[in-house]
Amino acid sequence: MIEHYKNQEHTIFHGDAISILSNHIPSESVDLIFIDPPYNIGKKFGNFHDKWESEAEYVNWSYQWLDECIRSLKPHGSLYVMTSTQAMPYFDIYLRKKLTILSRIIWHYDSSGVQATKYFGSMYEPILHCVKNKNDYIFNADNIKIEAKTGAQRQLIDYRKSIPTPYNTEKVPGNAWYFPRVRYRMAEYENHPTQKPESLLERIILASSHAESLILDPFAGTFTTAAVAKRLGRKSISIELQAEYLKIGLRRVLDIQEYKGEKLLQPHKNYKHSSCED
Ligand SMILES: C[S@@+](CC[C@H](N)C(=O)[O-])C[C@H]1O[C@@H](n2cnc3c(N)ncnc32)[C@H](O)[C@@H]1O
Repeated sequence: MIEHYKNQEHTIFHGDAISILSNHIPSESVDLIFIDPPYNIGKKFGNFHDKWESEAEYVNWSYQWLDECIRSLKPHGSLYVMTSTQAMPYFDIYLRKKLTILSRIIWHYDSSGVQATKYFGSMYEPILHCVKNKNDYIFNADNIKIEAKTGAQRQLIDYRKSIPTPYNTEKVPGNAWYFPRVRYRMAEYENHPTQKPESLLERIILASSHAESLILDPFAGTFTTAAVAKRLGRKSISIELQAEYLKIGLRRVLDIQEYKGEKLLQPHKNYKHSSCED
């Protein structure tokens, strides 16, 4: 029996994504999938080193979990996938044959840390937003609207219309998304090298799911997806290989306080929380 933990709304599997997807996730069972895999760029996730022998090996490994995710997705479901800027062209070409790619999003951010000085440093990560059925999918435009600066701040009137009309004050975001990265002082910070911000997942989940929808994250890390799903009244399934990150999920999603005799505590910090820091 695979190690797993659950309550009525949320399930956490501890183990390998491909094996758990293929053996434990039924076909056409999930509404939304968010995938933030290892990027093949040499990060350390516990004792796992995120570097394959070759790009071809990384891509072939990725195609296996992509196929499993596509199989698991309901006919009207949505799939968001991230990877490095280098690998994303392979994913794009592969996925456009199997799904409809609605948007090629970039998540960009600023950084006050060490930056490249001999080339243009990488300040964004790509995300593909795909659906199975381009004529029938969830997109809650009204739930994710942002301020339209021209209309809201400059209060312009559009005189090209037959009846001059004020510009809209709100709009659906375009495909360039700015959200600060998770920094040490933020309340949501966990000890993980590539934690994604709750704000990023909030936009995705609000746009592409309803209350009670089932959301799958096969590379959960700090369980950002499940934590936001929980806050927004969705259900979730998460998979994570490393025990040290599994423990974050048990605490953050299932409110479990102890794992194999160890108390599960939030990271201890000497600083006050701040909501936004680059
Ligand atoms: C990029 S991180 C995900 C970060 C996550 N989105 C967050 O917000 O914290 C990728 C995660 O996949 C996990 N992982 C690596 N190989 C895996 C595998 N074969 N099966 C399941 N999880 C794996 C790593 O331990 C790491 O936590």
